[in-house]
Amino acid sequence: TRLQMFVDELPDMPLLKGFDVVNGVPKPKSLKIGMYMKTWRFHRDLPATPVFAYGTSERTATIPGPTIEALQGIDTFVTWSNYLPSEHILPWDPTIPTAIPASKNGVPTVVHLHGGIHEPASDGSAKAWFTAEFKDRGPAWTQQTYRYRNQQQPGNLWYHDHTMGLTRVNLLAGLIGAYIVCQPEVEGPLRLPSGEFDRTLVVFDRSFRTNGSIYMNSTGNNPSIHPQWQPEYFGDAIIVNGKAWPQLKVRRRKYRFRIINASNARFFKFFFTNGLGFIHVGSDSAYLGKPVETKDFLLGPSEITDVVVDFSMSKNANVTLANDAPYPYPSGDPVNDANSKVMQFLIADHPELDTSRVPSTLIQYPVPDLSSASRTRYITMYEYESDTGEPTHLYLNAKPFDAPATEIVKAGTSEVWNVINLTQDNHPLHIHLGLFVVFEQRELVNEEKFKDCMNKLNDAVKCQISRYARGKTVEVPAHEKGWKNVFKMRPGTVTKILLRLAYIHSNASYEFDPTGEPGYVYHCHILDHEDNVMMRPLKLVR
Ligand code: C2O
Ligand code: CU
Repeated sequence: TRLQMFVDELPDMPLLKGFDVVNGVPKPKSLKIGMYMKTWRFHRDLPATPVFAYGTSERTATIPGPTIEALQGIDTFVTWSNYLPSEHILPWDPTIPTAIPASKNGVPTVVHLHGGIHEPASDGSAKAWFTAEFKDRGPAWTQQTYRYRNQQQPGNLWYHDHTMGLTRVNLLAGLIGAYIVCQPEVEGPLRLPSGEFDRTLVVFDRSFRTNGSIYMNSTGNNPSIHPQWQPEYFGDAIIVNGKAWPQLKVRRRKYRFRIINASNARFFKFFFTNGLGFIHVGSDSAYLGKPVETKDFLLGPSEITDVVVDFSMSKNANVTLANDAPYPYPSGDPVNDANSKVMQFLIADHPELDTSRVPSTLIQYPVPDLSSASRTRYITMYEYESDTGEPTHLYLNAKPFDAPATEIVKAGTSEVWNVINLTQDNHPLHIHLGLFVVFEQRELVNEEKFKDCMNKLNDAVKCQISRYARGKTVEVPAHEKGWKNVFKMRPGTVTKILLRLAYIHSNASYEFDPTGEPGYVYHCHILDHEDNVMMRPLKLVR
């Protein structure tokens, strides 16, 4: 049976303020957020099903979890507590490097604030996991309460689980939520749509059994090597703010949508079926310098875009937000009737007075300069296959996660990273702590020859990368030319980024020590890749 689309209303997640105001003065705030098992109804006609959800109590926990609104410059402390049962609701695979509690009991979890600039001990290291009541703890666990400094530029972040080997199943079960760093003094004068006209859309794909439960393949693609692990999870239903293909009644005016792709592996190429456009004002965790108009755009797993949509320009009363990105991206299956639709907007008949606007300049940050880079690195992406030609695991720089850190970066400096993708897939690479600007994406020539050399030497310079990195350049879309923390590494290309390990909005150095244990990480944000194990340590030094 097919589920009817556009019947559930788009939910708004509960809002949690990450600061207090005492006599008009903003003050730090401590939040307690739990992870609960509860039931959730993803569609009017699906039975309620067990999920893992973040919330201030079991009753109020939601998928996604509450949206945290932090204020720039004011600390938000969060005590993340695990109230999950002794067993996972989804299948997982002990043969990939995985957090396994000594007691063999409980679901390991740890929370990462994606896009956050804070000390390593609050970063949600994959090995800082813990089970219910902190009974079992991973080797990097140090503290119950995380401190988010919010000193960074205003922008859109999200929080999600980051447990070693379980990230893909913990997010699939529902452990995600939005986090916004606000700065009213700077953002107010922009006069972008605000209040009820400013909505966060957390989008992901899921499959369900007829009993309503979340379906995940329990058999791996190489079952004799990894009994459960599959290289990518894809679901046929598209979920926005916890409901499958919802609808939203909108007024005939401008709205702002902060769109987070919280899928494990699905890329979305979003467009409106009637040709209505998007005006991008932000990307990942920072505003753009200038707005950029598009008719469609590609959003990889974990990427965030911030757009204004002007429904007064719509020719139709109803407009569908749609998707036509193949999966896996870019060379997988074309979309089908189910996963090509995202949600529907029902637009009021009469236009109304709309005092919001999109100014011609937004927030300008100093333009980075390649010559400021203190060093150049090469990062390679590899996929390893079994005799049957099926992927068994992926690595960065041909190294497992546990090999000693090789990316050791001086705090306050910038570096050029050349990311070489020698696989068939597009990998959204995410770097913790730093922000980066993409300078160029260039196709490799004679890729096979280069790959052979890399298989032997695993050193891009010794393999004379410059002889191969001379194919045509791929245009970086204008709305992705600003500061980002994720970028889509296309297959067969070298992508040159300038990574900055300092604030982008001020010359002040970090007001915390970024050099401590357990350090940071960078990884592919296809969660099934990250888990097995397309992730490496990122170590900062003074
Ligand atoms: Cu969005 Cu390391 O994660
Ligand atoms: Cu990947």
